[in-house]
Amino acid sequence: MFDVSHDPGRLVLGIESSCDETAASVVAGGRQVLSSVIASQVKDHAPYGGVVPELASRRHLQNLLPTVQLALRQAAVSLEDLSGIAVTQGPGLLGALLVGFSWAKAVAWASGKPIVGVSHLEGHLCALNLEDSPPPYPHLALLVSGGHTSIYVVESAVACREMGRTVDDAAGEAFDKVAKMLGLGYPGGIAIDKLAKSGNKRAYSFPRPRLRDGSLDFSFSGLKTALWQFCQTTPDYNVEDVCASFQEAVVDTLCAKMFLAARATGIKHLTLAGGVACNSRLREAFMQEGLKRGLQVTLPAPSLCTDNAAMIAAAGAARLRAGQRLSLTADAVSRLKRGGALPA
Ligand code: KG4
Ligand code: ZN
Repeated sequence: MFDVSHDPGRLVLGIESSCDETAASVVAGGRQVLSSVIASQVKDHAPYGGVVPELASRRHLQNLLPTVQLALRQAAVSLEDLSGIAVTQGPGLLGALLVGFSWAKAVAWASGKPIVGVSHLEGHLCALNLEDSPPPYPHLALLVSGGHTSIYVVESAVACREMGRTVDDAAGEAFDKVAKMLGLGYPGGIAIDKLAKSGNKRAYSFPRPRLRDGSLDFSFSGLKTALWQFCQTTPDYNVEDVCASFQEAVVDTLCAKMFLAARATGIKHLTLAGGVACNSRLREAFMQEGLKRGLQVTLPAPSLCTDNAAMIAAAGAARLRAGQRLSLTADAVSRLKRGGALPA
């Protein structure tokens, strides 16, 4: 009989420090979140209008230990109880990554616990496994965050294939930059989402960049420039209408490429992941348009879309079960190689 005490995915501590959230979580069986603690640095970076890498590293150093201790306490487990440790290895801000990565390696070495490095992007995709009804494999996932915008065929918790990606700005980056232009502060995505609710999405016509016909790649820099020019030449614009019209242009583009990918692959189950997947209009349009086309759509809870460590623990549990282990001499990486592989 299978002895669950030897399952390395039984009780995993996840650590995430790739950007401006210090997060720790304990996940049981790769599926059940026992605790998920996030120490947000938003207030520290807001005065600068974006994430200051040096400041992020310093805050991670201050916040990491208390965050892990709280996650263990809330899960009512001790370090000895863990079956493994999962830590974000990249991509992200190198200085920020190194804080969580070095700490996790040191704890793994001292405790003798198995450790695995996780791609932050794979973490976002594995957040879906923490839902009550996870989507079946293979499914198509649109990963939309502050740093990435890609379409993946997700074949399993440890295997995915990128079908298309942004050639310039990420969708979240476009939201944040446009919010800055409109004087809405940082982070901007959520501010645009809120204001857009009382705006008219057809008030202004902004470009919907489709790039080459049939391509699954995205481009958002032209839309960003169009917004900049619009703001310069239209001093009396209505900010709610601009937010709604800009948001609609992004949502239209994201949905169009996803449904194109569904047609091209024949995959009938679609999901969203990443911070921009919190966007209320994207969720609504994606669901409505998907159902209209006879597709199944799974939307993760907003708390699982933005950066957290439960998704890292879930992805790590699958990798630990697949027998993967991190060498204690491995490095964190700010960018992934083509194909998304991490250095062992
Ligand atoms: O996944 P995430 O938390 O961090 C990264 O890995 O980048 O995503 C953060 C991004 C930011 O650009 C933020 O503005 C955007 O997600 N975001 C939103 C919303 N909530 C967060 N964008 C649009 N609408 C939202 N409601
Ligand atoms: Zn993220």
